[in-house]
Amino acid sequence: MSGLFITLEGPEGAGKSTNREYLAERLREQGIDVLLTREPGGTPLAERIRELLLTPSDEPMAADTELLLVFAARAQHLAQVIHPALARGSVVLCDRFTDATYAYQGGGRGLSEARIAVLEEFVQAQLRPDLTLVFDLPVEVGLARAIARGRLDRFEQEAQTFFESVRQTYLRRASNEPARYRILDAAQTLTGVQASIDQLLPDILERCRG
Ligand code: TMP
Repeated sequence: MSGLFITLEGPEGAGKSTNREYLAERLREQGIDVLLTREPGGTPLAERIRELLLTPSDEPMAADTELLLVFAARAQHLAQVIHPALARGSVVLCDRFTDATYAYQGGGRGLSEARIAVLEEFVQAQLRPDLTLVFDLPVEVGLARAIARGRLDRFEQEAQTFFESVRQTYLRRASNEPARYRILDAAQTLTGVQASIDQLLPDILERCRG
């Protein structure tokens, strides 16, 4: 038995967490075993690495340090949570995964895709998400939502151009591999986004049962 690995991606303020809960509920209604998790994080140790990544600090973090921390957290998360859940046949709904590394460390920080790909291969071997939902919205809308939520983390403090690159990287990756990605318009109302998720359900359920 092998489960299904679904990731949710998008810039800040795209509503990934709320929509992840919604999708999980729809799948559970169908009797499917769903595991919700997130990156960076998903295990106690990986959540500690998340703190290092998200907490603003006086010492600037080198881009390579950031990249390695992201993959260190991912290695732990894969070993402790994702691989065992997939082996049990669960559907794993993960809030962000390696597409975020290409978008933030690649697009945002300007690290080369080739270097990221080396670490992807090292940490994940053949594992890639089966399906990736990209919650897309204009940068200024997402940032306004993040600001309204309160104190900004180390990434949210970046300039608008950083997030433009993040967004463009997601969209480029999605258009390069349409079989794996679905783009959802996250600027619409929550009900509108959920209706878009409902439209994807037959395909997702077929993959779960296939
Ligand atoms: P979030 O879970 O609230 O979206 O915040 C996680 C932050 O971490 C977000 O700003 C994106 C960033 N991030 C990376 O920079 N690289 C990664 O590989 C992942 C998973 C997240």
